[in-house]
Formats: sequence, C-alpha cells, structure tokens
Amino acid sequence: MATLDRRSALKLLALGVIAPGAALAACANGTTPEPAPVEPDQGGGTPEPEPAPVSYTIDNIRDYVVGVDEPIALEDGTKQPQICFDNAATTPALVPVLEEVQSRLLTYGSIGRGFSPKSDISTEVYYTTRDKVLEFLGTSSENYTCVYVNTATDGLNKLASALVESPDDIVLATRAEHHANDLPWRNRCKVVYAEVDEKGRIIYEDIERLLTENDVKIVTVTAASNVTGYVTDVHRVAKMAHEHGAKIVVDGAQIVAHRAFSMEGGAPEESIDYFVFSAHKMYTPFGGGAIVGRTEEIQAHAPRFWGGGTVLVVSDDWVEYKNAPELWEAGSPNYLSVVGLGKAIDVLREVGFDAIAEHEQRLNRKLIDGLVTQPNIIVYGDTEQIDDKVGVVTFNYSDVNTMVLALRLAASYGIATRRGAFCAHPYVWRLTGVTKEEIEGFANCTDVNTMGMVRVSFGIYNTEEEVDRFLEILPEAVERAKEDMKHYIRCDPQY
Ligand SMILES: Cc1ncc(COP(=O)(O)O)c(C=O)c1O
Repeated sequence: MATLDRRSALKLLALGVIAPGAALAACANGTTPEPAPVEPDQGGGTPEPEPAPVSYTIDNIRDYVVGVDEPIALEDGTKQPQICFDNAATTPALVPVLEEVQSRLLTYGSIGRGFSPKSDISTEVYYTTRDKVLEFLGTSSENYTCVYVNTATDGLNKLASALVESPDDIVLATRAEHHANDLPWRNRCKVVYAEVDEKGRIIYEDIERLLTENDVKIVTVTAASNVTGYVTDVHRVAKMAHEHGAKIVVDGAQIVAHRAFSMEGGAPEESIDYFVFSAHKMYTPFGGGAIVGRTEEIQAHAPRFWGGGTVLVVSDDWVEYKNAPELWEAGSPNYLSVVGLGKAIDVLREVGFDAIAEHEQRLNRKLIDGLVTQPNIIVYGDTEQIDDKVGVVTFNYSDVNTMVLALRLAASYGIATRRGAFCAHPYVWRLTGVTKEEIEGFANCTDVNTMGMVRVSFGIYNTEEEVDRFLEILPEAVERAKEDMKHYIRCDPQY
C-alpha cells in the first residue's frame, strides 16, 4: 500500500483521483486504503431468502410500471385506471427504479464533498454510472465523457452556452426541432434551418445545401421527433457535418427509451460529437439526464455556469477550475436521478431495444390503420411506411377542436393524450398548413388555444388492447367533443 502525506491526499481528493474516505484515511494514517464500501445493516434475525431475480421482458414489463392500474376519477365520478398515451412528454416510473432509489437512500451521502463512508458509496455510484451511460450509448470513457445535467433542455442550453462563441457563429438546425434544440441556439447566434418534406421527414439534401452555402460551425438535429416520431439518420448527418468541418449535436430526448443508440458510426466521420437526453423520458422520474461528448471537445469547452464543485481553489482574485466533467456540473448533484437512470438503463437493455421497437411498430400500425378509416380525420406523417418512426402518432379532425377532444378523452374515458404544438411550433405549423397570419392570431388568442394536433405516444408498457379501446371510444368522444365545442369561445380560423 502506497503512503501518502496529508497535503498530497487532499490534492488528489480535489482532483477527484481518490474518494473522500480514502483521503481521510490517508490524513489519519499516512496511507491510501481502498475506500471500503459499507453495506447497510438490514436488521437482526434470520435473513429472509433472497427473491429470485426478475427477468424483464416486453411481455412482463407492464407488471413493473408504477401506477398503470391506479384508478383515477373520471368526470362522472367513476374510477378506472388511466390509459397513458403521453409517454413522449414523460414516462411513469419503473418499479425496479424506485426500489433501487429506495435502497440507495440507505447509504445516501453528499457526492464528492463528504467525509463519510456513505458519501464514498454515493460518490462511487455517481461516478460509475457515468460509465454505464457511456456503454448504453455504445461507447466508453476512452473517447467520450458523460456530464450529468438536469434535463435535455438544460443540457442543450449548456451546450449552446459552451459552443457558441460569437453572434456571427452559424448553427444548422432543422425545422423538426423541439424548442429546446432551437431557441438556445437562436438566442445566441445565427441559425439556418434545413426543411422537412410534406410528410414531415427531414430533407437531408437541404442539410448538405446549407452546409455548402454557409460556414456552419455546429449542426444540431433531433434523433427522433416528438411530433411525428421520425428517427433521423444522425450518422449520415454527422458525416455531412464533419466533411464540412462542423461538429454535430444530437438531441436524444425521444430516442433513448425507444431505440438502441450508438455514439459511434460505421466510420469515424459518422460518429457523434455531442448527445443530450433526459432521464425522465426513460422511466426514472427524478429529473436528470446527460450530455455525452467527445472528451477532447468537452474538455476544450465549458458552459457559462459556475459554482461549487467546479473549482480546485479560489483566491481573492483568481480561480483554479477542475476539468470536465466536474467543470460542467456546478452545484450539488442530483444523485437520485443518477441512481434511477442507472437502473432504468439496466432494465431497458434487459427488455431489449429490438423487442421495444417491434412492439412500438405493432402499436403504431394498429393505431394508424384504425385512425385512417375515421371520417374527417387527418393523420400526420407517413401512414404507409412507418418503420422509421418511434411510437408517436399525431392526428387532427377537420371538424373538431383538438383541445376539446383531448379534454373529453381524459374526462370521460380516462385516456391521457397531448394536444397542441408540442414545443415544436414551426414543425407543427408546417405539417398542419398554418399560415404566418394564423400564427400571429394564435399568439393573441387568450381563451381557447385551438391550433395543433392530438398526439398519442407509446411507452414500453402500452398494449394492443389499449389501442383497441381507444379506437373503439374515439367516434363517440369526437361526437361529444363536437357538443362540447358549442360551449367554448371561437378564437381562431381553424376552430
Ligand atoms: C425532442 C425533444 N427534445 C427535447 C425535449 C426537452 O426535454 P426536457 O423537457 O426533458 O428538457 C423534449 C421534450 O419533450 C423533446 O421531445
């Protein structure tokens, strides 16, 4: 065992090379013992036999999702479990995620700051989960660094604050982006947008054209759309970006719970520079998420957020900062989100992304086939070729208001959908054919916001029976919504 003086131990601690418990031991003994993980004392008596470990599959996962059978009061006072078709917004918790969080709370301590065994254990979990995230994204710490963030929105804002150096920088985005991957750039520099086609797919040739015509610094694109579910060929976009000397940022918020994703492409130029996602969209409702970036990129930039945890030493007039990832993580970490994320990754991988994709395809197909036969309906996106979609289906009626319909679906049938423009207004206006004048009218509309679509978005636990039930009640819900509309104030041309 190597010996270490107090000063060196504290220095190594500050650099994050050794854990606080190890530093403390070194200060006391002049040695660097391995931090001994302390397992919680579960109480005396004969230990209960360990239950056989559960194997999670697409067929049994519904049994391990919190709240699916929870009766919810409907408008008429009856109670029934909700059908949750709003998983693109957020996903319910997995039972194993909650169990893991509960168990880790027994040894909960401050991360990287405490001098206690519990602090060591929590710090260890916090750090090793970074490797799990990297592995989940098909890579390792050899090339990439995982930085924890609060949400995808937080991560994209941090990236924009770190990467944009001048208002004259040019960022290439697409018209299919969520506001979280549009406004952080738009508010800092010039953004040029690749168009989508009439079905809503990103036009790759437009990306190439814009890259040729502009000195683009960063290309940013969603991996999957929260409006149409289209999956982007981000490795193709990465190749285009790199050939033009640009970096690529991928908004992974809608892909992580639906498809296996790899930072590495088939060839080096196809690999992704930065990827961002939220943990709450993958069955762990404690906030959190991550930016995964090329290590040399992450080390070369830092977001404009500072505070505790980011520094080695601060004097009256100078500051010595830590390296990434700490430099990107100012403030006390959200440990429980990291614990939940690690477990959610384990479960999703065990269920398997092939099985998840196949399941979503089945649900998408059934829903779309059922919807297209309804009178006066518009189903957005491609209704024939759907293998490039995650589980998201959006639609509209020419004679029913989307808000009134969504309210009726929830109040009378306990079906949770989402309606509106889903924080992707430019994309939704394109798909629905809303004009500039109508958009301006919409901004002034204060009583009933009526433009947009209804969205059904699937999670791994939704069933074909739920889709059948939805299709069965939809005609009645539409008729009732038409009645409801008589009580609402008209306020835009689409009403
Ligand atoms: C495609 C996409 N990007 C980014 C976000 C932002 O995610 P969060 O609200 O978790 O920050 C969302 C949220 O719906 C999304 O769908």
